[in-house]
Amino acid sequence: MTQPAPRASRPPGPTARYTLHPDAATLALLERLVAEYGDTVLVESDDRRDPSFVVTDPAHLRQVLVANHTNYVKGVGFERVKMLLGNGIIVSDGAEWRRQRTMIQPGFSRSNVAAHAEVIRAHTLEVATQWAPLAAAGDTIDLTAAMSGFGLQVILRAIFSSDLARLEDQPGGNPFAFLADDPTRDIRTVVRLRELTRVIQSCIERRRTTGDRPFDFLSALMDARDRKTGAGMSDKELLDEVKTLIVAGHETSAGTLNWAWYLLSQHPAAAERLLAELATLGGGTGFGFEQLMALRYLPAVLKETLRLYPPVWLFSRRAVAEDRLGEYTVPAGAHVFIAPYLVHRRPHLWPEPGRFDPDRFLGPDADQRDPLAFIPFSAGARRCIGEYFSFVEMQMHLAILFPRFRLEHAPLPAEPVELDPAINLRARYGIRMRITPRPGAPGGAAAT
Ligand code: HEM
Repeated sequence: MTQPAPRASRPPGPTARYTLHPDAATLALLERLVAEYGDTVLVESDDRRDPSFVVTDPAHLRQVLVANHTNYVKGVGFERVKMLLGNGIIVSDGAEWRRQRTMIQPGFSRSNVAAHAEVIRAHTLEVATQWAPLAAAGDTIDLTAAMSGFGLQVILRAIFSSDLARLEDQPGGNPFAFLADDPTRDIRTVVRLRELTRVIQSCIERRRTTGDRPFDFLSALMDARDRKTGAGMSDKELLDEVKTLIVAGHETSAGTLNWAWYLLSQHPAAAERLLAELATLGGGTGFGFEQLMALRYLPAVLKETLRLYPPVWLFSRRAVAEDRLGEYTVPAGAHVFIAPYLVHRRPHLWPEPGRFDPDRFLGPDADQRDPLAFIPFSAGARRCIGEYFSFVEMQMHLAILFPRFRLEHAPLPAEPVELDPAINLRARYGIRMRITPRPGAPGGAAAT
């Protein structure tokens, strides 16, 4: 005899009303609510008509991000991204998003990313050269600022290649510099991004006129064609996608490298294991791409860093039509908040969640874990397009620099290591590190 379907119920939640935003107060609140009410929490708000579901259960995440993803459009927070980046792929939905994704995806093929690896290697070697005298003098560096600069330079070279030097050399100074120098993303950023538009537009026009197509993301975007109509992107579309790649592509990898260096400085045993693995690359900097990508401990260190400090710590969706998450009904219009930071710290998914342990990503635990318990890049059709690129970038960076330089945490009393959860999860104060050559460094710290 078939049982009648159980009556759908509302998830538990607080009686007090809250409006969730990507900010520190929301992170503190969500930590409390998820600890108190569990995997799915319902939050009502005074200034949002529809209820907010805070979802950390992998089965429910699978329903929203994978199985029924077409029922969910980008939610709160994305209007701010839209103000910054226009209608790029990260904010669009439905047929428009699908068209953009199909056009942009080929630029991120494995073979293209492998070709970008050489640009990343070249820039990492420049950083090694800049760091060598600082290390010889035992100086301190602002690691957070250094990683921001690294991430920005990598993505800009990947987008503009041989045009970059010309674009950076503007009468009013380097128009891209503020992206790494000033972490605030407010109305001033909008104005500065508009200024950037002119510079990028000039580059697009020059390439259209000359037919010049060096190997880079801009050429890939300019040559992309709509499968059905054969049309390319308009200038406005190109500009929005370029701005999207610049912003989405630099803060995330930079933030992860920032925390990876910090965590390694706090966990000597993990640092030793990483050094031992990197020694298998032969000590030089000319190791092969396949060799780099075949390493196992290095990506595990990066994944464990992304688990503890996912740069996109909170994102949201809006339900188009009613849906079911297990026993709960999600009404049409409901907000769904997905917080990788909280999912990654649920004790039943990640025992001793605060402990840094890259082995979680090696061995049998990794195979048995629900893939939706680890979502730094989201999941499903809208999963990050730059995931592989970011691993190539981060692995190249650490493979070259980690064996050559030792970074020890040297905080000023007024600069504790604190989270600053805004659109991205950042360190509130730049993490200060004393830099020295690693004893026995290959080539005596200078990269060879
Ligand atoms: C550690 C590095 C990175 C992390 C943690 C990360 C995280 C994410 C997440 C969580 C999303 C999904 C957001 C949502 O669905 O609401 C996303 C989307 C996206 N990311 Fe990344 N990202 C990283 C690196 C990159 C890089 C290097 C690029 C470009 C070169 C990039 C470009 C994009 C784009 C274009 C999207 C939108 C994809 C779509 O909607 O189809 N990301 N990223």
